[in-house]
Amino acid sequence: MVQMRNWRILLDLGGASQGASYRDILAGLSRAISDGRLPPGAPLPGTREMAAMLGVNRKTVIVAYEEAAIKGWLVSEQRRGTFVNAAFDPEPVHAAAGRGRGDFAPDFQAQSLPSYFDDLPPNGRIRDGRMMYFDNGSPDHRLLPQAILHRHYRNALRDSLRSGRVRYGNLESAQQLRVALAGMLGATRALAVSPANICLTQGTQMALHLAAAALIRPGDTVVVERLSYPPAWAIFQALGARVDVVDIDADGCVVQQVEDLCRRRAIRFIYLTPHHQFPSTVSLRADRREKLLALAAQHAFSIIEEDYDHEYHFAGRPYPPLASDARQRNVIYIGSLSKLLGSSFRCGFVVAPANLVATLEKNQHLLATHGDAVMQKMLADLIADGELRRHVRRSSKHYRARQEVLLDCLQRGFGDGIATRVPEGGLALWVTFSEEVDVDAMARHAADEGLFVRSGSQFSPQGEAINGVRLGFASMAPDELVRAVARLQRAWGKSRR
Ligand SMILES: Cc1ncc(COP(=O)(O)O)c(C=O)c1O
Repeated sequence: MVQMRNWRILLDLGGASQGASYRDILAGLSRAISDGRLPPGAPLPGTREMAAMLGVNRKTVIVAYEEAAIKGWLVSEQRRGTFVNAAFDPEPVHAAAGRGRGDFAPDFQAQSLPSYFDDLPPNGRIRDGRMMYFDNGSPDHRLLPQAILHRHYRNALRDSLRSGRVRYGNLESAQQLRVALAGMLGATRALAVSPANICLTQGTQMALHLAAAALIRPGDTVVVERLSYPPAWAIFQALGARVDVVDIDADGCVVQQVEDLCRRRAIRFIYLTPHHQFPSTVSLRADRREKLLALAAQHAFSIIEEDYDHEYHFAGRPYPPLASDARQRNVIYIGSLSKLLGSSFRCGFVVAPANLVATLEKNQHLLATHGDAVMQKMLADLIADGELRRHVRRSSKHYRARQEVLLDCLQRGFGDGIATRVPEGGLALWVTFSEEVDVDAMARHAADEGLFVRSGSQFSPQGEAINGVRLGFASMAPDELVRAVARLQRAWGKSRR
């Protein structure tokens, strides 16, 4: 009886009265699907059962179901039943129903915060195979050790459910992950930290927001490099900071300009990616590191050091992070596992003195009560068992080879038309073009060729026209890189001024 009332109400047929035409049922289905009350994949009662519940002839329901199936709203599967079509875009149903939801309360002006990258084009088929992407330097998820991940995730899930780790207030998994990360950061990045120095987040983005929100007061000056990571400066602007820039050269950030700036006004912090500068890939020279740390102490500003792909260094030993200097008190160090395991495992961290970590954790509760305990347990085990280390070692070999393939293709395809430097590490190349090439136009032509490439202008906080592109090479196999460069070459040919 309860069910009967529910379906009549769900299909807008009136709660108590009996009877309905097949058109009424069809219109009810379209409304329920278009406004999400019947979600994709939702099962519908069988025709006999539905007819009884609606108080109509079974034939009426059959006709309504058939018509809805022809329109693509429903699918019938033998011996399983009838379902809302999971592959169906409800928009046209919406329109067909002649009833839209309309915009949010028209008088209400929602505040739009600064945005950064445009959306990536969908991963669809194009004339010449599939869309290809020169991303910012993501790893290749196809190289992940799937069997190991499956086993660890299954074990973590079982363990978490049995031990009650999935309850509010149980932070055991988080603590295990902190312990594992502290060990990893000590062993691979010379960061002598304890778990109390680590605030866990759901990726770099959240870590940057937390750190910046704790530091910035509206009107504060924040410094970034002339080319920098847009998701970072979008946060700083959203929090009301004035964003100033300093130059970068072949040795990284021009620290002298930071000093000049400090003489003119107080700065709250500088945001840097000193290991492999984003997007130019250069590493910050050792004497400039020293000088920057000294300036931070002298002028009392913080350094937000983001180290997004520390593990990948193909030329000798990596630089130790600024945060590894035992004397400093001003550095907030941020990283994530996105370049090791791909961006779906949302695990980032802030490394800082324990009092700041305590504040960040408290502030974080406004945004998220806690992280994903099962994933945290799995990641802690992966690190403790040495699986993450082994994966980095294995995948680095591929990435080093892919870098060579890309360099070779670029050399052959573009010759003197471009300039690039082999970076000391990281998963991307920074490539600049001669002035007669319009790189913005090239990015547009590349999209027509089925290749996504981001014009370097997007990395300029001041909106400067930049004749360069950042080409992530790790997420494409060697044969894919060859095809991607061929597409880039065709776009380049069409983009001379
Ligand atoms: C400079 C930089 N930082 C961080 C990330 C990763 O961000 P998250 O940890 O939020 O996935 C990327 C990914 O491309 C990046 O290029």
